Amino acid sequence: MEVIIRESVEKAVELVARLTSDAVCRKPDLVLGLATGRTMERLYARLAEMHREENIDYSGVNTFNLDEYIGLSPQDENSYRYYMQKHFFDHINIKCENTHLPDGSVEDIDEECRKYEETIKKCGGVDLQLLGIGRTGHIGFNEPLSAMLSRTRPKALAPKTIEQNKHLFDDPERMPRRAITMGVGTILDSRRCFLLATGKEKSAIIAKAVEGPITSMISASALQLHPHCTVIVDEAAAADLTQNEYYKWIFDNEPEWQDYH
Ligand code: GLP
Repeated sequence: MEVIIRESVEKAVELVARLTSDAVCRKPDLVLGLATGRTMERLYARLAEMHREENIDYSGVNTFNLDEYIGLSPQDENSYRYYMQKHFFDHINIKCENTHLPDGSVEDIDEECRKYEETIKKCGGVDLQLLGIGRTGHIGFNEPLSAMLSRTRPKALAPKTIEQNKHLFDDPERMPRRAITMGVGTILDSRRCFLLATGKEKSAIIAKAVEGPITSMISASALQLHPHCTVIVDEAAAADLTQNEYYKWIFDNEPEWQDYH
């Protein structure tokens, strides 16, 4: 795992957007794993801009989202399908049939999860996974005690997560208590991944996930096992980390990062 600290939210978002656009240019049939949440809204806005300004071509890209609420139809304004259309898919030239999210409105949830894993496999696996982090330390909706080897499955949402996300619903009481999420094992199978976290409310959980012990109590700590994971944070989200001088040295000096200053 490596940590990159940028001076501001804008610079952190810019770096992830640049890295993602570059990955699409390098591999036009990229399989891209996507996340939702407020942090990602800025990223999608910037990716859409790069698509317009630099003709970043998404026509051959397949996407797989991490999760979806159980009980909401894809047309529901609170569903993650709706979020993705609104913030990203409607602004780029991706083929609708290449955008994959679990459907939380089907009757047979277990079958939906099995099919989702199968489709990821059929597409060749996720090349690049984008991640945010929830207050419980979740990636996707892998709440505390999610098994490190878990696959796509239904998961009960933790009270902290409900607290964090319910005001995004027009009627907070309508927020589902369950979701389908890729498992920690599914996420660890991705070839490359970026976790983007910004703001001071993320600093404590980022410190635990990055520098703390690997524990199923904090799913994001499993990323320490990932072969190529980069955590990109702004100064505020980095505030509780202890090795910041080292992390900054890496960005300033390692050859891999010199084109991204
Ligand atoms: C939701 C998603 C997560 C995401 C988290 C972060 O809970 N399921 O994948 O990481 O939101 O949200 P925010 O960026 O709003 O803090």
